[in-house]
Amino acid sequence: MEPILQVKNLSVEIKYDDKNLKILKNISYELFPSKTLAIVGESGCGKTISALSVLRLLPDSAKIASGKIIYKGIDLLKLSHEEIRKIRGGKISMVFQEPMTSLNPVMTIGRQISEAITEHTDADNREALEKSAVLLEKAAVGRAKNRLNDYPHNFSGGMRQRVMIAMAISCNPDIIIADEPTTALDVTIQAQILALMSKLQKENRMSLILITHNLGIVAQTADDVAVFYAGMIMEKSTARELFREPKHPYTRALLESLPEIGSRKKTLPAIKGLPPGFDQDLPGCPFAPRCPSAFDKCFKQEPPEFETGNGRISKCWLYEKAIRQQGN
Ligand SMILES: Nc1ncnc2c1ncn2[C@@H]1O[C@H](COP(=O)(O)OP(=O)(O)OP(=O)(O)O)[C@@H](O)[C@H]1O
Ligand SMILES: [Mg+2]
Repeated sequence: MEPILQVKNLSVEIKYDDKNLKILKNISYELFPSKTLAIVGESGCGKTISALSVLRLLPDSAKIASGKIIYKGIDLLKLSHEEIRKIRGGKISMVFQEPMTSLNPVMTIGRQISEAITEHTDADNREALEKSAVLLEKAAVGRAKNRLNDYPHNFSGGMRQRVMIAMAISCNPDIIIADEPTTALDVTIQAQILALMSKLQKENRMSLILITHNLGIVAQTADDVAVFYAGMIMEKSTARELFREPKHPYTRALLESLPEIGSRKKTLPAIKGLPPGFDQDLPGCPFAPRCPSAFDKCFKQEPPEFETGNGRISKCWLYEKAIRQQGN
């Protein structure tokens, strides 16, 4: 199967305090049609920056140093501003963590969804408003028609997230990028929002990039997973294989910090230590100082991405070590 989106060797730098911080270092991943790719990793590892790169919505201080982002054979990084604007919302749309930051507080919900529709389709205002009501209904907003004239503050947090989802699907995009779409919500509402996204994804045959801290969510919804750490991808795998047998010590540490159902453990074993700062240029693997399996080489040389079978990737010297030991 051909990927619908391919991020190839993407590096992003942000200028901060007169320094050029290397925020993303040579990351590559693929998203397949109608599939969900989960991007996981601790706070600050570059998940949001990688998503914003796809839509070319990076802050002014950031620049794409190298790489390609191929959507259906087109490099999004080569498009003009006008062309990328058509892709945004029309072909690839984004749902953010906190809907209040992306909804306009002084514009009715009906108008906001309609504008997204009229911008990307031939629909006139009346048709767009009718379609907005249908979309809100699809996103399980009750009495949708009556709510078109409400403002964002008239909605609860979960409802606002539903509005964002309605807006994101308004032009039948191929891809939705959802950046922590549920972290601001309580657990029951989180589950409802995720179930809604999965349902709409299947109905509309969309691909989904789901950015999350929550490995429980990944286990339930993802087909593939990319594990980020310090601006790199440490492991790539199908979700099933990742949970069955994580290859990278960082992935293992993340999984160990996940509570098991019925677990009596009161405290979770958080991963000891902190990720390195982006201004530190360490020679080896960025996880080595925290890694229980690290050996000499890990502190001296950055590991390449090893292909470990079944299309899996692990950026870890342990793989090479294991192969060498098998050979002896
Ligand atoms: N505008 C900016 N100026 C300077 N540094 C930035 C800026 N935006 C992001 N960064 C830095 O880039 C790094 C990656 O940020 P990013 O927001 O992608 O992390 P994340 O993985 O999404 O984290 P979280 O899980 O907390 O959302 C962080 O160290 C952050 O401090
Ligand atoms: Mg983020």
